[in-house]
Amino acid sequence: MTIVTTSAASGALLLAQSIATAAYIVAALLFILALAGLSAQSSARRGIVYGIAGMTIALVATLILVLAQGALTGGATLGIVLLVGAVVIGGAIGLWRARVVEMTGMPELIALLHSFVGLAAVLVGWNGALYAEGIAPELVGIHHAEVFIGVFIGAVTFTGSIVAFLKLSARMSSRPLMLPGKNALNVGALVLFVALTVWYVITPELWLLIVVTLVALALGWHLVASIGGGDMPVVVSMLNSYSGWAAAAAGFLLNNDLLIVTGALVGSSGAYLSYIMCKAMNRSFLSVIAGGFGIEAPRADAEEEGEIHETDAAAVAELLRDASSVIITPGYGMAVAQAQYPVADLTKRLRERGVEVRFGIHPVAGRLPGHMNVLLAEAKVPYDIVLELDEINDDFASTDVVLVIGANDTVNPAAAEDPGSPIAGMPVLHVWEAKDVVVFKRSMASGYAGVQNPLFFRDNTQMLFGDAKQRVEDILRAL
Ligand code: TAP
Repeated sequence: MTIVTTSAASGALLLAQSIATAAYIVAALLFILALAGLSAQSSARRGIVYGIAGMTIALVATLILVLAQGALTGGATLGIVLLVGAVVIGGAIGLWRARVVEMTGMPELIALLHSFVGLAAVLVGWNGALYAEGIAPELVGIHHAEVFIGVFIGAVTFTGSIVAFLKLSARMSSRPLMLPGKNALNVGALVLFVALTVWYVITPELWLLIVVTLVALALGWHLVASIGGGDMPVVVSMLNSYSGWAAAAAGFLLNNDLLIVTGALVGSSGAYLSYIMCKAMNRSFLSVIAGGFGIEAPRADAEEEGEIHETDAAAVAELLRDASSVIITPGYGMAVAQAQYPVADLTKRLRERGVEVRFGIHPVAGRLPGHMNVLLAEAKVPYDIVLELDEINDDFASTDVVLVIGANDTVNPAAAEDPGSPIAGMPVLHVWEAKDVVVFKRSMASGYAGVQNPLFFRDNTQMLFGDAKQRVEDILRAL
């Protein structure tokens, strides 16, 4: 009777494994379609549906697998309770955070989520080291290397993401940490990792694993602490990539094909996004991923001297009434003020009067890629008047009025004109070339990169102080 039950259970396990393999292939394809969908605004919603479908299929397949394995070993109930418990708790926290998070708080939430992936990879690696049973003798060396690499990438991702979270949420200064010999420290840690890996593959002693975990935790912290505020967008997408590779390493250890494929997809798409962002900000990709390798500490910024020209809503309304072309360049402040709705109304009003209105979007305006595009789409601004930096930069010179709404670093002429500026070389929107520029902000405070902006002191610039939403509403009333 027992023999019959056991063989029935092993038959069920074989069937469950085949179902899971097939389901994982379908889920992997759905994840690829999700990424393809997310590459354009018009197909993003479809992409998300594919992603949800892929994840649901993967979860159901895993549930079936746990049930079948449990039936064979007698631990089905415990396995299911643990799995369902983890999914329900994780899902509930995820749902709650996703509902309450402000759009402006998204990057720090993402950074925090990456730290969980890193931590999970470290735990999976340690588990693989402590419970390494049933591994074929010829594969033992590979297993040890997998453990080491998984723990290393996971630990770097873990502390790196925590520092990114602290910097993005302003709980830690966004200035780069400049330890003496910082490049040597990073390179030294990498060399040590390679040496320890070889050692561990030959003699897998636990203290080696402890040392590599500590080295990687310190390296992750140092790598991201060395990167200045302006480069944080790249760091977040780079950590996204690291978290993908950490998940792939965990997939090798757990022998889970879907985790390997998904990790590789996240790893490579994150790396590619980092590369595109580096290009957009004229940063060296290699130097950013190497923790600001070769980047000099920004010099203390001399306080900009000069006069500013303050204006009011009625005068700006007057200026807009006489304009025939207007470009709006939004930034982080538009998101903070939630000014996109009155901005959309203003756009509509001006277009009805025959004014040509367009938007110029910098690739890192706001706090996450596509931030401004999402806000403007939310307020139903037509896609075809929302242009990217390359598409609009040559048109400022022939534009009557530019409204800089809560943008600062992305319109800073110092990036183009002052080789000593910490953001030198970063492509910026050439707003100062227009006939008149109106800057909406609350004070003379600097932007995210902490750099003074000479635009505010130019003769053709007028400052409209106050909350961006209220000021745009004032202009609408005056019009
Ligand atoms: P920032 O340079 O951050 O400047 C935003 C400006 O908005 C500030 O000068 C602030 O001045 C103003 N502001 C804030 N709240 C406001 C309100 N309620 N009403 C009116 N103005 C308000 O913005 P940006 O030009 O969009 O540049 C983005 C920066 O963030 C870049 O340095 C970029 O590298 C970095 N960053 C980007 C990302 C991505 S991927 N986009 C991620 C992380 C970091 P006041 O305080 O005087 O009002």
